[in-house]
Amino acid sequence: LPVPSVQAMVAATGGDVVPPRYLRPEAAVDMVIGSGEAQIPIIDYGKLQMDNGEESARLHGVCQDWGFFQLINHSVPDDVVEGMKSSIQRFFQLPAETKKGFAQERRQLEGYGQLFVVSEDQKLDWADILYLNTQPPEDRNMRFWPDQPAKFRSTLDKYSAAVKHIADSLLATMAKNLGLEPETIADKCVSGIQSVRMNYYPPCLQADKVVGFSPHSDSDLLTLVMQVNHVQGLQIKRNGSWVPVKPVEGAFIVNIGDIFEIFTNGRYRSIEHRAVVDPKEERLSVAAFHSPSIHAVIGPLKEIAACEDEAYKTVDHEEFMRLFFSAKLEGKSFLDRMKL
Ligand code: SIN
Ligand code: FE2
Repeated sequence: LPVPSVQAMVAATGGDVVPPRYLRPEAAVDMVIGSGEAQIPIIDYGKLQMDNGEESARLHGVCQDWGFFQLINHSVPDDVVEGMKSSIQRFFQLPAETKKGFAQERRQLEGYGQLFVVSEDQKLDWADILYLNTQPPEDRNMRFWPDQPAKFRSTLDKYSAAVKHIADSLLATMAKNLGLEPETIADKCVSGIQSVRMNYYPPCLQADKVVGFSPHSDSDLLTLVMQVNHVQGLQIKRNGSWVPVKPVEGAFIVNIGDIFEIFTNGRYRSIEHRAVVDPKEERLSVAAFHSPSIHAVIGPLKEIAACEDEAYKTVDHEEFMRLFFSAKLEGKSFLDRMKL
Protein backbone atom coordinates (compact mmCIF):
# COMPACT_ATOMS: atom_id res chain seq x y z
CA LEU A 1 0.00 0.00 0.00
CA PRO A 2 1.30 3.48 -0.80
CA VAL A 3 2.23 5.67 2.18
CA PRO A 4 3.21 9.36 2.41
CA SER A 5 6.86 10.39 2.25
CA VAL A 6 8.13 10.90 5.80
CA GLN A 7 10.77 13.29 4.48
CA ALA A 8 8.08 15.48 2.89
CA MET A 9 6.00 15.33 6.07
CA VAL A 10 8.95 16.45 8.19
CA ALA A 11 9.76 19.23 5.72
CA ALA A 12 6.17 20.46 6.05
CA THR A 13 5.83 20.19 9.84
CA GLY A 14 9.36 20.64 11.16
CA GLY A 15 9.39 17.10 12.53
CA ASP A 16 7.80 17.73 15.90
CA VAL A 17 4.43 16.29 14.89
CA VAL A 18 4.20 12.51 14.94
CA PRO A 19 0.96 11.22 13.38
CA PRO A 20 -0.57 8.25 15.25
CA ARG A 21 0.35 5.82 12.46
CA TYR A 22 4.02 6.31 13.36
CA LEU A 23 3.73 6.24 17.17
CA ARG A 24 5.42 3.15 18.61
CA PRO A 25 5.00 3.24 22.38
CA GLU A 26 6.89 -0.05 22.76
CA ALA A 27 10.09 1.52 21.37
CA ALA A 28 10.46 3.77 24.40
CA VAL A 29 10.39 0.90 26.89
CA ASP A 30 12.61 -1.54 25.00
CA MET A 31 15.85 -2.14 26.81
CA VAL A 32 18.95 -0.84 25.05
CA ILE A 33 22.37 -1.93 26.25
CA GLY A 34 24.77 1.04 26.46
CA SER A 35 26.97 1.28 23.40
CA GLY A 36 30.20 0.76 25.33
CA GLU A 37 29.28 -2.68 26.60
CA ALA A 38 28.99 -4.92 23.60
CA GLN A 39 30.27 -4.57 20.10
CA ILE A 40 29.75 -6.83 17.13
CA PRO A 41 32.94 -8.66 16.06
CA ILE A 42 35.28 -7.39 13.37
CA ILE A 43 36.42 -9.63 10.51
CA ASP A 44 39.36 -8.76 8.27
CA TYR A 45 38.56 -9.47 4.61
CA GLY A 46 42.22 -9.09 3.61
CA LYS A 47 43.17 -11.94 5.96
CA LEU A 48 40.40 -14.16 4.58
CA GLN A 49 41.70 -13.49 1.06
CA MET A 50 45.14 -14.68 2.14
CA ASP A 51 43.57 -17.95 3.31
CA ASN A 52 44.30 -17.15 6.92
CA GLY A 53 42.96 -20.21 8.78
CA GLU A 54 42.64 -18.39 12.07
CA GLU A 55 40.50 -15.62 10.57
CA SER A 56 38.24 -18.04 8.73
CA ALA A 57 37.78 -20.08 11.93
CA ARG A 58 36.85 -16.83 13.72
CA LEU A 59 34.35 -16.10 10.94
CA HIS A 60 32.77 -19.54 11.47
CA GLY A 61 32.39 -18.85 15.20
CA VAL A 62 30.96 -15.38 14.61
CA CYS A 63 28.34 -16.70 12.14
CA GLN A 64 27.16 -19.18 14.78
CA ASP A 65 27.26 -16.90 17.78
CA TRP A 66 26.52 -13.35 16.55
CA GLY A 67 25.16 -13.61 13.00
CA PHE A 68 26.52 -10.06 12.54
CA PHE A 69 30.00 -8.63 12.02
CA GLN A 70 31.83 -5.62 10.60
CA LEU A 71 34.03 -6.31 7.61
CA ILE A 72 37.22 -4.26 7.38
CA ASN A 73 39.83 -4.18 4.57
CA HIS A 74 37.13 -5.08 2.08
CA SER A 75 38.98 -3.62 -0.92
CA VAL A 76 36.03 -1.88 -2.60
CA PRO A 77 37.73 1.19 -4.13
CA ASP A 78 37.19 4.48 -2.31
CA ASP A 79 35.77 6.19 -5.37
CA VAL A 80 33.07 3.51 -5.66
CA VAL A 81 32.16 3.82 -1.97
CA GLU A 82 32.22 7.63 -1.95
CA GLY A 83 30.40 7.81 -5.30
CA MET A 84 27.61 5.61 -3.95
CA LYS A 85 27.30 7.64 -0.75
CA SER A 86 27.05 10.93 -2.59
CA SER A 87 24.62 9.56 -5.19
CA ILE A 88 22.26 8.35 -2.47
CA GLN A 89 22.49 11.61 -0.54
CA ARG A 90 21.84 13.63 -3.65
CA PHE A 91 18.93 11.45 -4.71
CA PHE A 92 17.09 12.01 -1.42
CA GLN A 93 17.83 15.76 -1.66
CA LEU A 94 15.93 15.99 -4.96
CA PRO A 95 12.56 17.79 -4.90
CA ALA A 96 9.64 15.57 -3.82
CA GLU A 97 8.10 15.84 -7.28
CA THR A 98 11.26 14.54 -8.96
CA LYS A 99 11.55 11.57 -6.60
CA LYS A 100 7.90 10.69 -7.27
CA GLY A 101 8.92 9.95 -10.83
CA PHE A 102 10.54 6.78 -9.44
CA ALA A 103 7.70 5.83 -7.08
CA GLN A 104 6.67 2.21 -6.57
CA GLU A 105 3.73 1.05 -8.63
CA ARG A 106 0.85 -1.02 -7.29
CA ARG A 107 1.85 -4.48 -6.10
CA GLN A 108 5.49 -3.95 -7.05
CA LEU A 109 8.43 -3.90 -4.69
CA GLU A 110 10.84 -1.79 -6.70
CA GLY A 111 11.04 1.98 -6.59
CA TYR A 112 10.80 4.93 -4.21
CA GLY A 113 8.36 4.43 -1.35
CA GLN A 114 8.10 1.83 1.42
CA LEU A 115 7.94 -1.97 1.81
CA PHE A 116 5.93 -4.38 3.98
CA VAL A 117 2.88 -2.10 4.24
CA VAL A 118 -0.06 -4.50 4.09
CA SER A 119 -2.87 -2.76 5.97
CA GLU A 120 -4.26 0.72 6.63
CA ASP A 121 -4.03 0.33 10.39
CA GLN A 122 -0.51 -1.04 10.83
CA LYS A 123 2.25 1.10 12.36
CA LEU A 124 4.62 2.69 9.87
CA ASP A 125 8.38 3.15 9.78
CA TRP A 126 9.90 6.63 10.03
CA ALA A 127 11.73 6.38 6.73
CA ASP A 128 11.54 6.60 2.95
CA ILE A 129 13.34 4.06 0.82
CA LEU A 130 14.45 3.36 -2.72
CA TYR A 131 14.46 -0.37 -3.48
CA LEU A 132 15.97 -1.79 -6.68
CA ASN A 133 16.84 -5.15 -8.23
CA THR A 134 20.53 -4.93 -9.10
CA GLN A 135 21.72 -8.45 -10.04
CA PRO A 136 21.57 -10.23 -12.37
CA PRO A 137 21.64 -7.21 -14.71
CA GLU A 138 18.75 -8.59 -16.76
CA ASP A 139 16.50 -8.29 -13.67
CA ARG A 140 17.02 -4.52 -13.58
CA ASN A 141 14.02 -2.35 -14.19
CA MET A 142 15.57 0.91 -15.35
CA ARG A 143 12.20 2.62 -15.05
CA PHE A 144 12.95 2.89 -11.28
CA TRP A 145 16.65 3.74 -11.53
CA PRO A 146 17.07 7.48 -10.93
CA ASP A 147 18.70 9.38 -13.79
CA GLN A 148 19.51 12.15 -11.34
CA PRO A 149 22.09 12.76 -9.98
CA ALA A 150 23.77 12.20 -13.33
CA LYS A 151 26.07 9.37 -12.25
CA PHE A 152 23.54 7.49 -10.11
CA ARG A 153 23.08 4.58 -12.50
CA SER A 154 26.73 3.98 -13.36
CA THR A 155 27.69 4.34 -9.67
CA LEU A 156 25.09 1.82 -8.51
CA ASP A 157 26.16 -0.53 -11.30
CA LYS A 158 29.77 -0.48 -10.05
CA TYR A 159 28.81 -0.63 -6.38
CA SER A 160 26.47 -3.55 -6.97
CA ALA A 161 29.15 -5.60 -8.76
CA ALA A 162 31.82 -4.82 -6.13
CA VAL A 163 29.55 -5.77 -3.22
CA LYS A 164 28.34 -8.94 -4.96
CA HIS A 165 31.97 -9.98 -5.40
CA ILE A 166 32.63 -9.61 -1.67
CA ALA A 167 29.41 -11.40 -0.74
CA ASP A 168 30.33 -14.34 -2.99
CA SER A 169 33.81 -14.52 -1.55
CA LEU A 170 32.48 -14.50 2.03
CA LEU A 171 29.90 -17.14 1.09
CA ALA A 172 32.65 -19.33 -0.37
CA THR A 173 34.63 -19.13 2.87
CA MET A 174 31.53 -19.86 4.94
CA ALA A 175 30.60 -22.81 2.72
CA LYS A 176 34.10 -24.20 3.15
CA ASN A 177 33.84 -23.75 6.90
CA LEU A 178 30.59 -25.72 6.81
CA GLY A 179 32.14 -28.53 4.78
CA LEU A 180 29.71 -28.21 1.86
CA GLU A 181 30.13 -30.06 -1.44
CA PRO A 182 31.14 -28.08 -4.56
CA GLU A 183 27.74 -28.73 -6.22
CA THR A 184 25.86 -27.41 -3.20
CA ILE A 185 28.04 -24.33 -3.17
CA ALA A 186 27.54 -23.69 -6.88
CA ASP A 187 23.80 -24.25 -6.53
CA LYS A 188 23.00 -22.47 -3.28
CA CYS A 189 25.89 -20.43 -1.92
CA VAL A 190 26.46 -17.88 -4.66
CA SER A 191 24.51 -14.67 -4.90
CA GLY A 192 22.23 -15.38 -7.85
CA ILE A 193 20.05 -12.42 -6.93
CA GLN A 194 21.01 -9.07 -5.41
CA SER A 195 18.70 -6.22 -4.48
CA VAL A 196 19.62 -2.90 -2.91
CA ARG A 197 17.60 -0.91 -0.41
CA MET A 198 18.58 2.70 0.17
CA ASN A 199 17.21 4.09 3.43
CA TYR A 200 16.52 7.70 4.36
CA TYR A 201 15.57 8.27 8.00
CA PRO A 202 14.50 11.88 8.65
CA PRO A 203 15.19 13.27 12.13
CA CYS A 204 12.32 13.15 14.61
CA LEU A 205 12.14 15.38 17.68
CA GLN A 206 10.29 12.55 19.43
CA ALA A 207 12.83 9.97 18.27
CA ASP A 208 12.08 7.49 21.07
CA LYS A 209 8.44 7.29 19.98
CA VAL A 210 9.11 6.14 16.40
CA VAL A 211 11.07 3.36 14.70
CA GLY A 212 13.08 3.86 11.49
CA PHE A 213 13.07 0.21 10.43
CA SER A 214 10.82 -2.23 12.31
CA PRO A 215 12.43 -5.17 14.08
CA HIS A 216 13.01 -7.95 11.54
CA SER A 217 15.46 -10.50 10.29
CA ASP A 218 16.58 -10.38 6.65
CA SER A 219 15.16 -13.05 4.36
CA ASP A 220 18.31 -13.55 2.28
CA LEU A 221 21.61 -15.46 2.49
CA LEU A 222 23.89 -12.56 3.32
CA THR A 223 23.39 -8.78 3.67
CA LEU A 224 26.05 -6.07 3.41
CA VAL A 225 25.13 -2.68 4.86
CA MET A 226 27.01 0.56 4.37
CA GLN A 227 26.46 3.59 6.56
CA VAL A 228 26.13 6.60 4.27
CA ASN A 229 26.63 9.35 6.85
CA HIS A 230 27.98 9.48 10.40
CA VAL A 231 24.65 9.06 12.23
CA GLN A 232 24.23 5.72 14.05
CA GLY A 233 20.94 3.85 14.28
CA LEU A 234 21.30 0.11 13.69
CA GLN A 235 20.64 -2.11 16.73
CA ILE A 236 20.76 -5.89 17.01
CA LYS A 237 18.89 -8.13 19.43
CA ARG A 238 21.26 -10.07 21.64
CA ASN A 239 20.27 -11.98 24.76
CA GLY A 240 16.96 -10.16 24.84
CA SER A 241 18.32 -6.58 24.65
CA TRP A 242 19.04 -4.18 21.82
CA VAL A 243 22.75 -3.63 21.22
CA PRO A 244 23.65 -0.52 19.17
CA VAL A 245 26.12 -1.13 16.36
CA LYS A 246 28.95 1.40 16.39
CA PRO A 247 30.02 1.48 12.75
CA VAL A 248 33.74 1.27 12.10
CA GLU A 249 34.78 3.88 9.51
CA GLY A 250 34.99 2.30 6.07
CA ALA A 251 33.65 -1.12 7.18
CA PHE A 252 30.62 -2.99 5.88
CA ILE A 253 28.16 -4.37 8.41
CA VAL A 254 27.47 -7.95 7.35
CA ASN A 255 24.71 -10.22 8.57
CA ILE A 256 23.42 -13.74 8.02
CA GLY A 257 19.87 -13.90 6.62
CA ASP A 258 16.99 -16.37 7.06
CA ILE A 259 17.88 -18.46 4.00
CA PHE A 260 21.33 -19.15 5.41
CA GLU A 261 19.87 -20.02 8.81
CA ILE A 262 17.53 -22.48 7.05
CA PHE A 263 20.32 -23.94 4.84
CA THR A 264 22.46 -24.59 7.91
CA ASN A 265 19.50 -26.03 9.85
CA GLY A 266 20.01 -23.29 12.44
CA ARG A 267 23.80 -23.39 12.86
CA TYR A 268 24.29 -19.92 11.36
CA ARG A 269 21.97 -17.37 12.91
CA SER A 270 19.78 -14.76 11.28
CA ILE A 271 19.54 -12.14 14.01
CA GLU A 272 16.69 -9.76 14.66
CA HIS A 273 17.64 -6.09 14.19
CA ARG A 274 16.06 -2.66 13.75
CA ALA A 275 17.00 0.93 12.99
CA VAL A 276 16.21 3.81 15.32
CA VAL A 277 15.99 7.49 14.42
CA ASP A 278 18.06 10.48 15.55
CA PRO A 279 16.28 13.49 17.14
CA LYS A 280 18.26 16.09 15.17
CA GLU A 281 19.99 14.57 12.20
CA GLU A 282 18.92 12.60 9.17
CA ARG A 283 20.45 9.16 8.74
CA LEU A 284 21.15 7.29 5.50
CA SER A 285 22.22 3.73 4.86
CA VAL A 286 22.29 1.24 2.01
CA ALA A 287 21.71 -2.50 2.36
CA ALA A 288 22.59 -5.01 -0.37
CA PHE A 289 20.74 -8.34 -0.07
CA HIS A 290 22.13 -11.51 -1.62
CA SER A 291 20.00 -14.58 -2.30
CA PRO A 292 20.66 -17.75 -4.29
CA SER A 293 19.19 -18.20 -7.76
CA ILE A 294 15.41 -18.13 -7.94
CA HIS A 295 15.58 -21.82 -8.95
CA ALA A 296 17.34 -22.89 -5.73
CA VAL A 297 15.08 -24.81 -3.36
CA ILE A 298 15.05 -23.31 0.16
CA GLY A 299 15.40 -25.90 2.93
CA PRO A 300 18.03 -27.47 5.19
CA LEU A 301 21.06 -28.68 3.16
CA LYS A 302 21.50 -32.44 3.11
CA GLU A 303 25.19 -32.31 4.09
CA ILE A 304 24.24 -30.50 7.27
CA ALA A 305 20.91 -32.01 8.22
CA ALA A 306 21.57 -35.62 7.10
CA CYS A 307 22.06 -37.02 10.60
CA GLU A 308 19.63 -34.83 12.46
CA ASP A 309 16.03 -33.69 12.29
CA GLU A 310 15.31 -30.94 9.83
CA ALA A 311 14.22 -27.89 11.77
CA TYR A 312 12.74 -25.95 8.82
CA LYS A 313 10.35 -26.57 5.95
CA THR A 314 11.54 -26.90 2.38
CA VAL A 315 9.83 -24.54 -0.09
CA ASP A 316 10.58 -23.17 -3.51
CA HIS A 317 12.37 -19.85 -3.62
CA GLU A 318 9.64 -17.94 -5.42
CA GLU A 319 7.04 -19.02 -2.85
CA PHE A 320 9.46 -18.13 -0.03
CA MET A 321 9.91 -14.59 -1.41
CA ARG A 322 6.20 -14.15 -1.98
CA LEU A 323 5.46 -15.08 1.63
CA PHE A 324 8.19 -12.79 2.96
CA PHE A 325 7.05 -9.69 1.09
CA SER A 326 3.36 -10.20 1.73
CA ALA A 327 3.43 -9.70 5.51
CA LYS A 328 4.48 -6.85 7.75
CA LEU A 329 7.84 -7.07 9.49
CA GLU A 330 7.52 -8.53 12.97
CA GLY A 331 10.81 -9.65 14.44
CA LYS A 332 11.58 -13.21 13.41
CA SER A 333 7.93 -14.17 12.88
CA PHE A 334 8.49 -15.03 9.21
CA LEU A 335 11.34 -17.40 10.02
CA ASP A 336 9.28 -18.89 12.85
CA ARG A 337 6.59 -19.81 10.31
CA MET A 338 9.27 -21.72 8.36
CA LYS A 339 10.09 -23.86 11.40
CA LEU A 340 8.90 -27.44 11.62
C1 SIN B 1 18.70 -2.93 7.87
O1 SIN B 1 19.16 -3.15 6.74
O2 SIN B 1 17.98 -3.74 8.43
C2 SIN B 1 19.00 -1.65 8.56
C3 SIN B 1 19.90 -0.83 7.77
C4 SIN B 1 20.31 0.38 8.52
O3 SIN B 1 21.31 0.33 9.26
O4 SIN B 1 19.66 1.42 8.37
FE1 FE2 C 1 17.72 -5.81 7.82
